[in-house]
Amino acid sequence: MSTAPTEVQPMWKTENPYTPDPDLKVWLDGELVPVEEARISVFDHGLLYGDGCFEGIRIYGGKIFKEAEHVKRLFESAKAIRLQIPMTPQQVREAMHEAMQVNGITGDGYIRLVVTRGVGSLGLSIYHTACPSVFVIADKIALYPPEVYERGLHCIISSLARNHPNTTSPRVKSLNYLNNIMAKAEAKEAGADEAIMLTTDGFVSECTGDNIFVVRNGEVFTPPTEMGILEGITRNLAMELAGKRGIHVHDKVMIRHDLHIDDECFATGTAAEIIPITRIDGRPVADGEPGPITRQLLQDFIDYRTTA
Ligand SMILES: Cc1ncc(COP(=O)(O)O)c(C=O)c1O
Repeated sequence: MSTAPTEVQPMWKTENPYTPDPDLKVWLDGELVPVEEARISVFDHGLLYGDGCFEGIRIYGGKIFKEAEHVKRLFESAKAIRLQIPMTPQQVREAMHEAMQVNGITGDGYIRLVVTRGVGSLGLSIYHTACPSVFVIADKIALYPPEVYERGLHCIISSLARNHPNTTSPRVKSLNYLNNIMAKAEAKEAGADEAIMLTTDGFVSECTGDNIFVVRNGEVFTPPTEMGILEGITRNLAMELAGKRGIHVHDKVMIRHDLHIDDECFATGTAAEIIPITRIDGRPVADGEPGPITRQLLQDFIDYRTTA
């Protein structure tokens, strides 16, 4: 028997569960335009093929957090995919500040900085595209509520592997997140918050939008970037903060077993900052409570970003 629905609701006519703030202005290819007019062509290869790269950046107290690091990573991602950003790093920084100012963000916020390949023919060639497009959205961010930081994230280990390093490297923050999106959806379907992805060889890589750390016997371990992970800016900061406390941090190739026997586990990322992981595949991590090193590093992170 066919499972195809007999009647389909025209989704584009139903109410959208998310509508951007109508007063928002977006920096798009050199202009500040109202959100309603901030449009990308259906011929843009960013849309047609996920061909482009991006950054997600926090604003704390009106200041762009780790601004230089994010711009550097954007240019590295672009270089790796042969994408020539039509701006200098300084101009990209100025665009972010303009987007922030025009939207009156003086407290906390979030920036989405995107470069797409641009408008091109309906083929895969990068040589039949016009100028890349750059846009900056400066807005608010949806966060995990405080109680999730108290109880910790519940994770599954996804059946989907992280992209192999011999595909376009996961170190490129590309516009193609489909694999991670499917892993996240799998976690939600299973009643969990987040998915931990293994490599194609079964080694621990990272979460769908965060890096992963394990604590065992007072030392901290995280997969090396060569495993095929994004080199997270928060990951690097967490390592630095742990180092300042005299806690040893090691790059370590880990397997599922390491996640089952750890004393603590946590994830790091621009949006989540540092967040405990307290359940993995239905098993509690240690006693199922956020551990002391995780709590300490989260506090150190909060202190750092307050003064940065
Ligand atoms: C796949 C993936 N891993 C890790 C991270 C964390 O990186 P960062 O700390 O630079 O936000 C992100 C977030 O951008 C991500 O998308």
